Amino acid sequence: MEALKGVRILDMTHVQAGPTCSQLLAWMGADVIKFEPPQGDATRGQLRDVPGADSLYFTMLNCNKRSITVNMKSAEGKTVFVDLLKKCDIVMENFGPGVLDRFGFTWEKIREINPKIVMGSIKGFGSSGPYAEFKAYENVAQAMGGAMSTTGVPDGPPFVTGAQIGDSGTGLHLAIGLLGALHQANRTGKGQYVEVAMMDGVMNLCRVKFRDHQRLQHGELAEYSVPTYQGMGEVPRAGNDSGGGQLGNAIHCKPHGANDWLYIVVQEAVWTKLAERIGAEVGVPDLAADPRLAKIADRRKNQQLVWTLINKFAEKYTKRELMEILNPLDVPCGPIMSTEDLANDEHVRGRDMWLELDHPQRGKWWNVGMPIKLSESPAKIERSPLLGEHTDEVLKDVLGYNEEKVAALRTAGAFSAPPKKAA
Ligand SMILES: CC(C)(COP(=O)(O)OP(=O)(O)OC[C@H]1O[C@@H](n2cnc3c(N)ncnc32)[C@H](O)[C@@H]1OP(=O)(O)O)[C@@H](O)C(=O)NCCC(=O)NCCS
Repeated sequence: MEALKGVRILDMTHVQAGPTCSQLLAWMGADVIKFEPPQGDATRGQLRDVPGADSLYFTMLNCNKRSITVNMKSAEGKTVFVDLLKKCDIVMENFGPGVLDRFGFTWEKIREINPKIVMGSIKGFGSSGPYAEFKAYENVAQAMGGAMSTTGVPDGPPFVTGAQIGDSGTGLHLAIGLLGALHQANRTGKGQYVEVAMMDGVMNLCRVKFRDHQRLQHGELAEYSVPTYQGMGEVPRAGNDSGGGQLGNAIHCKPHGANDWLYIVVQEAVWTKLAERIGAEVGVPDLAADPRLAKIADRRKNQQLVWTLINKFAEKYTKRELMEILNPLDVPCGPIMSTEDLANDEHVRGRDMWLELDHPQRGKWWNVGMPIKLSESPAKIERSPLLGEHTDEVLKDVLGYNEEKVAALRTAGAFSAPPKKAA
């Protein structure tokens, strides 16, 4: 049996942050009813690669869900919403500030309708504070949560990271909050409001940078390869430095293309073996005994020398060859893998992390798999729903509406966009 079998979720989320969360919950077996406006989640049509087909933006984030379209700007649509609220364990949304309130459904109102329901909300900045009224997208959250100011090199611009820590990262935070609140609701019979702000989520993921922020009050950050000093205030961008207690960096390998790099951690425990292996080839046969690099404190101080020597050694090898040399020495390392590398990687395929699916509009396509592996209930991944594919099914099976009622609601415009006003 799936872990969340029997849990029903009214999923009003759109774009990426919310759908990331509800997809994971669906992959754990929850019945996720994607509640869409009549025109659908905007991402269905965004960055389309196949004409007329739901975009990969949509299909990759909305698997294993049922889709129902409801016009919340009609009175009839609102009655459907209320009926669904009564039948669901969780309701979730990531609208811009105030949207749900404008529909007439504050949290107070929702809990009145169903006191046991758990409500999840993602906002850019939460519901309180000077930023509460602002909308947010991924890179806005990366900018405001500390990720961008600490990513890149000191004399270059701040950079965003490719990992969607603002959107998908926040979705993960929400999933944890919802499961905690659901557990509590099952014990107490009382739901609660779970709010995750994207900015807070990014700050959480930048926790170690705030460790360093405080360390700067007491002295330099010796492990950083870029200059730092006591009282510096801002944590600097430090390129590919490890960010941990061990030194690390990306090493350029043969044939020196864009992704011909191996990330190497020069762990304290492996230095001697590493130095013995590379010393002779880089012209320093007694590297292991070299006092400039003898202890970790020396290597931190003379970090550039460490990277120069390892880069020199790497000149003759590809990233995979270098990895094969370092693995037997127990040196933690990993090749910088391109999307192409990953899509064809045996390990990735073996772990069901790159999966082929079928779709009535687009045919074969691929999705990144479920990263959380439950031994008793592995995820069965199914394609995303077409817009409104399950409207009738949900109205009948979940709400018990009969054919006549569905038809009357349809005629009244509960599931369609209102006609455009004449100009
Ligand atoms: C992502 C975001 C910037 C998009 O902004 P947006 O496209 O203007 O969308 P909003 O959420 O503000 O508004 C949605 C609109 O659709 C309407 N809508 C949504 N569902 C509807 C339904 N079922 N029926 C009728 N209308 C519906 C809403 O009423 C609203 O219109 P309004 O402004 O007239 O009230 C914004 O939703 C946001 O800041 N969300 C919170 C942070 C977040 O999750 N960002 C990450 C996205 S990956």
